[in-house]
Amino acid sequence: MNALLSNRPVAVVTGAAGELGRAICQRLYQDGLNIVAVDINLSAVEALAHTLNRSSDQRVVAIQADMGDERSISAMVDQAGELFGRIDVVVNNAAINLRGSIYDFNPEHWDKMMAVNLRGPALLCQKIAPFWVKQQSGRVINIVSRCWVAGGPPAYVACKAGLVGLTRSMARELAPHNVTVNAIAPGLLPSAFTLEGRNPEDFDQMAEGSINVTPLKRLTRPEDVANTTSFLASSDSAFITAEVIHVCGGSQLAPFGTR
Ligand SMILES: NC(=O)c1ccc[n+]([C@@H]2O[C@H](COP(=O)([O-])OP(=O)(O)OC[C@H]3O[C@@H](n4cnc5c(N)ncnc54)[C@H](O)[C@@H]3O)[C@@H](O)[C@H]2O)c1
Repeated sequence: MNALLSNRPVAVVTGAAGELGRAICQRLYQDGLNIVAVDINLSAVEALAHTLNRSSDQRVVAIQADMGDERSISAMVDQAGELFGRIDVVVNNAAINLRGSIYDFNPEHWDKMMAVNLRGPALLCQKIAPFWVKQQSGRVINIVSRCWVAGGPPAYVACKAGLVGLTRSMARELAPHNVTVNAIAPGLLPSAFTLEGRNPEDFDQMAEGSINVTPLKRLTRPEDVANTTSFLASSDSAFITAEVIHVCGGSQLAPFGTR
């Protein structure tokens, strides 16, 4: 490893090719970190790396991994470790939303969502923990959703509420090694994730409902989440752990969809 590259902290960002993932990678790159940009969609994450890589002593490396698959997660961590020799920050951002109500949800979809959205972040932290133990420092940032308090599609909400529980559990377990673990709960924003399976009118109606219950009267922007990630990844947040920061203009105060 090039000595200059290895002096920089390294962030692993999952779901890096998505709307929030791209903004998070861009911000952490601006902050001076090397980035391991992870996504199931290799070509999209390679395109991101190509766009961001502008410096000879700082790198964005694109790696394909399926967060629902333990072997794939292990292989990605091994590759990141070989490339950089250290891992400092993990942003668990990848998620899927196979919608279904309590009346009609598909059990296979339920299991797949749990595997990608909840078990994946836990496994990723398990595989990276040896780096944190060695380094005696680390940061975990779990992207949840305001729906963990507000409700919504049951499997998705269960994953996100579970990820808040995992945040609190890992905050205690990893603290002896000076690792902080926090969650960010964004509000609604347009992305492949929220637009898939909806026509634009449905999304617009949902967005209008969301803005109506948001005291700060707009949707979440990717940079809102990226800025908060930057803070939680930095030394300025050193004494903050086990927290959920709602980045949704106050809409956590209102029940989902209330006008
Ligand atoms: N968009 C919103 O309104 C919203 C609101 C609250 C929370 N969130 C959360 O923000 C995060 C990012 O969402 P987004 O809106 O940017 O969605 P997005 O669809 O734009 O991005 C998700 C990314 O995850 C990747 N991905 C999907 N399955 C994967 C897997 N098995 N392994 C690895 N990567 C995988 C996708 O390829 C995609 O690039 C998610 O955790 C989501 O739950 C989104």
